[in-house]
Amino acid sequence: MKNLIKLVDEHLDKYLGICYPEEIFKAMKYTLMLPGKRLRPVMCLETVRMLGSDINKAFPMACAIEMLHVQSLIHDDLPCMDNDDFRRGKPSNHKVFGEANAVLAGDALLTFAPQLIIEKSDNLTTETVLKLIHEYTKFAGAYGLIAGQVVDIESEGGKLAKTAEETLDFIHLNKTAVLFRLAIRTGAIIANAEDKTINELDEFATKFGLAFQIYDDIMDEISTFDELGKTIGKDKNSGKLTYVSLYGLEEAKKKFSCLIEDCCDIIKKYNSEIFVEILNKLRDRILGV
Ligand code: IPE
Ligand code: IPE
Ligand code: MG
Ligand code: MG
Ligand code: MG
Repeated sequence: MKNLIKLVDEHLDKYLGICYPEEIFKAMKYTLMLPGKRLRPVMCLETVRMLGSDINKAFPMACAIEMLHVQSLIHDDLPCMDNDDFRRGKPSNHKVFGEANAVLAGDALLTFAPQLIIEKSDNLTTETVLKLIHEYTKFAGAYGLIAGQVVDIESEGGKLAKTAEETLDFIHLNKTAVLFRLAIRTGAIIANAEDKTINELDEFATKFGLAFQIYDDIMDEISTFDELGKTIGKDKNSGKLTYVSLYGLEEAKKKFSCLIEDCCDIIKKYNSEIFVEILNKLRDRILGV
């Protein structure tokens, strides 16, 4: 895992150079190079490896997913969204570069990511690259991540078009699970997996993504700034619809635990130490070792 994270960091640094106008490249690179967990790029690379293919083919895609994720974090922290002054243990992007540059840095990451996939995926066929771009655009936009963020913000005011349960699932599946799906599906596509395998791993990614957002909701209540590197207790203060606010802490833990068990069941036949390591780490943190 550590090794993969180091490789991801090196590729991110290499792919995104600084040129004129420097301020925007510095803003893009600032949040990108802060020490995040790199879960999504690692999941993409590990999917490629466990399906028997070469991870070197997947670095542009894996790094593009991290760029998209970082874009979502920069915009998520803006005063007009979650209004959070800290991210990855440091001041948020807009606190350092100002709101205008933070908006633009997010936009620039969102658009540089597919450019990177197209320009650097030398070892992939044009057909595969087209499939990857389709996955990226489908999940990044208003059919995916943006839909989740819109309903997340709407829910703060208690304005719900569906039941609270349905709304919460919609938010978590879209704002979070779609990036887990993107990582794992694109890994499987790069490895030329059969549709049956892609579908099974998609189910794994969906459950994993849902579990991860419940983990994040729980951590917002029980963790510390030092551990998370972002402001805690924010969900409650802003009246967010989360698993903890809707079901309570204990029920949220139960739902998290069931999803993690389902994930362990699906992934065991794939022989992946890394996926098992991530699942165990999350489970141990919430449920105790
Ligand atoms: C934060 O994701 C946003 C959520 C989906 C909860 P991570 O917890 O993976 O953030 P980094 O990448 O480690 O900063
Ligand atoms: C995570 O939502 C989803 C995105 C950032 C797209 P949160 O608002 O819960 O994420 P954190 O807690 O700020 O990292
Ligand atoms: Mg948010
Ligand atoms: Mg937030
Ligand atoms: Mg959160």
